[in-house]
Amino acid sequence: MTKTPKTAVIKADAHAAALVAGRAAACLAGGGLVAFPTETVYGLGADATNGEAVARLYLAKGRPAFNPLIAHVPDLAAARRLAVFNADAERLASLWPGPLTLVLPKAPGCPVSDLATAGLDSIAVRIPAHPVAQAVLAAFGRPVVAPSANRSGHVSPTNAAHVMADLDGRIELVIDGGATPVGVESTIIACLDQPLLLRPGGLPRAAITRVLGHPPADAPAEPADDPDAPLAPGMLASHYAPKARMRLEADRVDAGEALLAFGRTLPPGAGTAAAVLNLSEDGDLVQAAARLFSHLRMLDACGAGLIAVMPVPHEGLGEAINDRLARAAAPR
Ligand code: TXA
Ligand code: MG
Repeated sequence: MTKTPKTAVIKADAHAAALVAGRAAACLAGGGLVAFPTETVYGLGADATNGEAVARLYLAKGRPAFNPLIAHVPDLAAARRLAVFNADAERLASLWPGPLTLVLPKAPGCPVSDLATAGLDSIAVRIPAHPVAQAVLAAFGRPVVAPSANRSGHVSPTNAAHVMADLDGRIELVIDGGATPVGVESTIIACLDQPLLLRPGGLPRAAITRVLGHPPADAPAEPADDPDAPLAPGMLASHYAPKARMRLEADRVDAGEALLAFGRTLPPGAGTAAAVLNLSEDGDLVQAAARLFSHLRMLDACGAGLIAVMPVPHEGLGEAINDRLARAAAPR
């Protein structure tokens, strides 16, 4: 593989699904980097068993190598070759395929490269539901590590254009499967001992409580920006960073500010905002999650120095939305 590949973009449509998956699998087998849609966000895939490919992935993203990756597999049989499932993990696995990642003890003989797990004894595993992700994983036949397909610290990509804006010329292939339906990253739960919610995400907390029979414990508050300490090492306080500063829970829009709105009733000053995008006029949190990252990218591109963000309710997917907004607004 050359150091500066020309990035090819191919459309995944129903007719060509097998062909597209075959091309992605061949690229992965050659140590290449392939971006593909999952139901949450686009992932940047590499052969999890190939340390050199994983090293190239860290380099392409500009990601610190202490931050481990999620291994993606097509089914539970493949997941069991990577990780050990306790009783709670078995219950949570019933929610797969879907927007859920489990952090589990590495299985003996786990073939995933130590670089991908940052030398930890645990491994993050996910079975995505998106048909394109499923087709790529099935065609490749080995686990694929895939962080979100953005430059490290940027907003996660929810369409192929977002991927190209960050990674054109750094990766071999982008499979364009349109906009991702969920729009925020997977919910991450550690099942090393008691189930611990490490990252709120596309699977709402209530679904987890339902299968566990009790709510998951919350990970202790993260030591701000200390990369040695966090439980999910990638969950630094400042992340998902747009260029503009962000002001949350806004009840007015000041001159020159852009507005990220939610619901139909806009705050004073909205009429003269530099730009207005609405996460959901109907106040629908599923729609808001699906639009979040692309609205942030668009408002950032309009050049306003500050994005005022209306309050978003904390229930359902609102928990993940508010988590990402807080990270985007964190001082840096
Ligand atoms: O929806 C998603 O999860 C997307 C799609 C592509 O699957 N992927 C994604 O990956 O968001 P990434 O790398 O952006 O976030 C993975 C998170 C990071 O915060 C990382 O630190 C954490 O998972 N993680 C990975 N392995 C871990 C481990 N063994 N223990 C604790 N946290 C882990
Ligand atoms: Mg990410």
